[in-house]
Amino acid sequence: MRINSFDPVAQAYSTKVAPRRFSQFLTLVHELELLGHEKVLDIGSGPGELSLQIARQLEAGGFLHGIDLAPNMVRLARKTAALHGYNNVTFQKGNALNIQFNDDVFDVVVSSNAFPWVPDRLLFLQEVYRVLKPGGRFGLVALSNDCYREFCEAFRRVSKENPDLFPIHKPFDLVGAKLHSMFELSRQVAKVGFQIQKRFVLSTQEPITPDDYLDRVNAIINENYLSHLTNNKQRTTARQLLYNALARRNGELKVTESSTFVIATKPVS
Ligand SMILES: C[S@@+](CC[C@H](N)C(=O)[O-])C[C@H]1O[C@@H](n2cnc3c(N)ncnc32)[C@H](O)[C@@H]1O
Repeated sequence: MRINSFDPVAQAYSTKVAPRRFSQFLTLVHELELLGHEKVLDIGSGPGELSLQIARQLEAGGFLHGIDLAPNMVRLARKTAALHGYNNVTFQKGNALNIQFNDDVFDVVVSSNAFPWVPDRLLFLQEVYRVLKPGGRFGLVALSNDCYREFCEAFRRVSKENPDLFPIHKPFDLVGAKLHSMFELSRQVAKVGFQIQKRFVLSTQEPITPDDYLDRVNAIINENYLSHLTNNKQRTTARQLLYNALARRNGELKVTESSTFVIATKPVS
């Protein structure tokens, strides 16, 4: 299994994927009910769209820190923040599994779609719990197990018919990502001590061509689902089979973006 790095796809992610998640970002900002003076941490802030939506709601005394493992993502987020003149945000390279802040410092922690990619999800949640103040709020968004369902179905079909090309049937498993159901996700969040306030799934669908679909998926996982194939001819065949499986829908292909939201609080004591 390959660990997915977002460094090579940062630019593609910021143009092909992040804008499609805008309604998710606005939904999360709405659910947070910010008062304006909060200290907010965004974990896995990527190119910074969610962070900047939050920063827009902040007033004097409020600020947002974004951390991300991928330096190219940090660079993009800084560039966008500077372009739009935000002076209440900072973006730094940082690891969700070892957050470089003291205990009990943030009023709000958010994380949008970084959770599926971390190798130790319990430690991720324990770190969030540690840096949140008692009474602080946590807004977690994570790819639901319905996300990119059309690609996953095509992959399953092709992998079952061609076991020599694909060792397993779930493309996200091949890149070390875990897609969660709403119940699984909220159970994990509750397990570290959070009180769950709300949980729901938000899905959108739009028509798309097979080329654009593959571009969209590759802007996240960079064809890492083919990285076990060292032979170029095999890679080309595998790529073509996946394309054909998507193209079979013949003009009816849609892309499903779907994420689970969990809004939780750290108890006061
Ligand atoms: C799918 S992108 C999401 C970016 C942004 N939050 C959004 O919703 O558009 C996942 C991000 O999480 C970051 N990430 C993955 N593992 C991480 C970790 N252990 N610590 C910090 N960031 C991480 C990746 O580098 C990537 O930028």
